[in-house]
Amino acid sequence: MLTLSIIKADTGGFVGHSAVHPDMLSEARSAVDRAKASELLLDGHVASCGDDISLIMTHGYGPDASLVHSFAWDVFQATTRIAQNLGLYGAGQDLLSDAFSGNLRGMGPGYAEVEFEPRPSEPVVCFLADKTEPGAWNLPLYKIFADPFNTAGLVIDAKMHAGFVFEVYDLFEEKRILFDCPADLYDMLMFVGAPARYVIHSVRSKTLDETAAATSTQRLSLIAGKYVGKDDPVMIVRAQSGLPAVGEVLEPFAFPHAVAGCMRGSHHAPLMPVATGDAHPSRFDGPPRVVALGFQIKDGRLVGPRDMFADPAFDESRRQANLAMDYLRRHGPFEPHRLPLEDLEYTTMPAVAARIADRWAPLTGTVATQEELSTGRVTGQPGEGAGTSVPTQDVGDAQPVRPG
Ligand code: F6R
Ligand code: MG
Ligand code: MG
Repeated sequence: MLTLSIIKADTGGFVGHSAVHPDMLSEARSAVDRAKASELLLDGHVASCGDDISLIMTHGYGPDASLVHSFAWDVFQATTRIAQNLGLYGAGQDLLSDAFSGNLRGMGPGYAEVEFEPRPSEPVVCFLADKTEPGAWNLPLYKIFADPFNTAGLVIDAKMHAGFVFEVYDLFEEKRILFDCPADLYDMLMFVGAPARYVIHSVRSKTLDETAAATSTQRLSLIAGKYVGKDDPVMIVRAQSGLPAVGEVLEPFAFPHAVAGCMRGSHHAPLMPVATGDAHPSRFDGPPRVVALGFQIKDGRLVGPRDMFADPAFDESRRQANLAMDYLRRHGPFEPHRLPLEDLEYTTMPAVAARIADRWAPLTGTVATQEELSTGRVTGQPGEGAGTSVPTQDVGDAQPVRPG
């Protein structure tokens, strides 16, 4: 069996949160070369999207392997040191723990891993995104594996006609469920349509009994027990021969759907599919970007990548993303551009709410008095006004702890 792992982390941004410094990428590439020479890895490729470094690796150790995860952890420590030396922004920001223990679960870096028996020809697409969250993959995964208007093979290919099983995580209650599609399609959409909470973790072919896709579903906010940032997800999708064709895998991104992320991880904005050279969110720390790296895997070797969105056929999606960004930006601090209060990652809301708590009064039906209007304070009757609770949603222990 072969394992394909993408392990990623933001260990410092150049400039601000927009990109990775070339010295950090060189360091990671040298480390991957050494790991190949020592036969820890069969192959490896270093890529970036925005301020996140992704290590795309093949090996024989299976998912959650201590050896592979500790290697990635060491690489991210090394790139953090470079970020520190260069004074780059947010050096080491995704390394939430002081020491490595066992695997990367709960330590900050994100990862997507698939173990499979390679087919004679094994096409895979590795998606890397920046300035958004793992639930951003819900809509494209639904389209790829469950929507016949996207994926003709669901109707035409006998190996796909039986459908796919989706594994969905509830990130808030740490539970998981399997939806057998198409039978469970409407039930599933009820949940995955709320991508801040319900995230598709993997997809399996019913006919081939093989994992077809996997995502990184570690939400940093939940790891730390409070809002600490968007975790800029990655995704692996295997293609062809009874799985969706490469063109069906890419097709959902012809529509730049709205995702949560962008500036301060706190805004809805379109996910723009770009070539790797354009994967640097700068306008309003966005729009969020996605790149698609295509590989053929042969005897563990990653033949590629092909930069799959470097295709004029995605120009219209990029143009629509710019139009959607203009439209949403004009809402400024108003929803639906700004996320609803419960999803806000950075917020001064609790402090503001506490400061003005005693200025709220019950709605009694009385009109404001002249005194109230001139002083700006509600006087009300005894028991009204001062000290009444604030009619806002509970945003929990939201702190601007960590940028995304
Ligand atoms: C979003 C992101 C950025 C930062 C923003 C503020 O995921 O990474 O939008 O949130 O640039 O960053 P700080 O608070 O570090 O100044
Ligand atoms: Mg960053
Ligand atoms: Mg990032």
